[in-house]
Amino acid sequence: MKAMIPTAPQQVTFGDVAEPVPADHEAVVEVAAYSVNRGETFLLDSPSAGWRPGKDLAGTVVVAAANGTGPTLGTRVVGHAPHSAWAERVAVSAASLAEVPSTVELTTAAALPLAGLTALRLIRRAGSLIGRRVLITGASGGVGHYVVELATGAGAVVTAVSATAERGARLREFGAATVTHVGDAEGWFDVTMDSVGGGSFAEARRRTNPAGTVIWFGQASLEPVTLNFFEWVDGTVGARIELFHYEISDRTDSEDLATLLRLVTEGRLHPEIGALLPWKDTALVIDDIRERRLRGNAVLQVTS
Ligand SMILES: NC(=O)c1ccc[n+]([C@@H]2O[C@H](COP(=O)([O-])OP(=O)(O)OC[C@H]3O[C@@H](n4cnc5c(N)ncnc54)[C@H](OP(=O)(O)O)[C@@H]3O)[C@@H](O)[C@H]2O)c1
Repeated sequence: MKAMIPTAPQQVTFGDVAEPVPADHEAVVEVAAYSVNRGETFLLDSPSAGWRPGKDLAGTVVVAAANGTGPTLGTRVVGHAPHSAWAERVAVSAASLAEVPSTVELTTAAALPLAGLTALRLIRRAGSLIGRRVLITGASGGVGHYVVELATGAGAVVTAVSATAERGARLREFGAATVTHVGDAEGWFDVTMDSVGGGSFAEARRRTNPAGTVIWFGQASLEPVTLNFFEWVDGTVGARIELFHYEISDRTDSEDLATLLRLVTEGRLHPEIGALLPWKDTALVIDDIRERRLRGNAVLQVTS
C-alpha cells in the first residue's frame, strides 16, 4: 500500500510499505483523511530508521479489533495513532478510536485528534474557567483555535495572541480579544498558556496573576525559554509554572475524542481547517506550517 515516508531534507514522499498487521487490541482503518500538526514537523527533523509519520486519521474500520473491543467493521471512525497514520491503512488501538456521527464529515473529524485532545486536556488542567482571565500565545494554530473556543464557551475572558489581526479573525468570532504581540495583552491573567517559548514565555509569565498559573505546553519558535529569577522579584512572584503533555490524561483518547465529536455536533466546537488538500500535497502543507502560513488545522484527503 501507499504511505508517506520520511525523506531528506526534513520532508515526506510517497513510498510502498507493508500492510499493517494489527495486534489483538487494534483495528485496521482505511484512511480517508489525516491532519498534520506542528509537532510532527519537528519529528521529521531526525526520523529514526523505519519510523513513519502521522498521528491523526479518520476513515472506516476494515478489520475490527480481534479482542472484541472498539468499533465494529464498517464504522466511520476518528483515531489517534502513535505514528504511521499518513497511509492508506493503519492499525490503531481500539482505545484511541471513536465513532464519527453521520452528520460530521471525515475531513472535519480528521482535524480533531492531536490538537483537540491537547486543547481539551489543557482546559481540564486549567480547572474552572468561568469568569477567569485567560491569555494564550500561538493562538492562530490548531491547538489555539480549539483552546479559545472551549475557554470562551466555559465562561473565560480570553486574550489570544496571533501574528496578524487577520489570523485572529476567527478567534474574535469565538469571543476572544486578540493582540498581535504578547506584550500588548493588558492586565493580569489568572491562567496563561504558552506554546511559543523563547521571549514569549517570559512576557506571558510577567502578565500572570501572582495567584495564577502559567501552563507551558510547547516551543513552536524552537527557542529555549530563559528564566531570570531576579527579573521576577517584582511583585509578580507567586504564579505557578506547570509543564503540560497531552498524553498524560485520566481519560482514554477514545473518551475524549467522543467528547470533541459531541461538542462539534452540538455546534459548540468548530474545527478551523486552514487547508484541505489531496495527500500528494502533504510536503507543501509541512512547508506552510513551518513558515507560519496556515490558520488552524491542515487536513489531507487520501485518494487512491
Ligand atoms: N505539550 C503537548 O502535549 C503538546 C501537544 C500538541 C502541541 N503542542 C505544541 O503546541 C504548539 C502548538 O501546536 P499546533 O499544532 O497548534 O501548532 P500550529 O498550528 O503550528 O500553531 C502554532 C502557532 O504558534 C505561532 N507562533 C508564534 N511564534 C512562532 C514562531 N516563532 N514559530 C512558529 N510559530 C510561531 C504561529 O501563529 P502566528 O504565526 O499567528 O503567531 C503558529 O500558528 C506547538 O509548539 C506544538 O509542538 C504541545
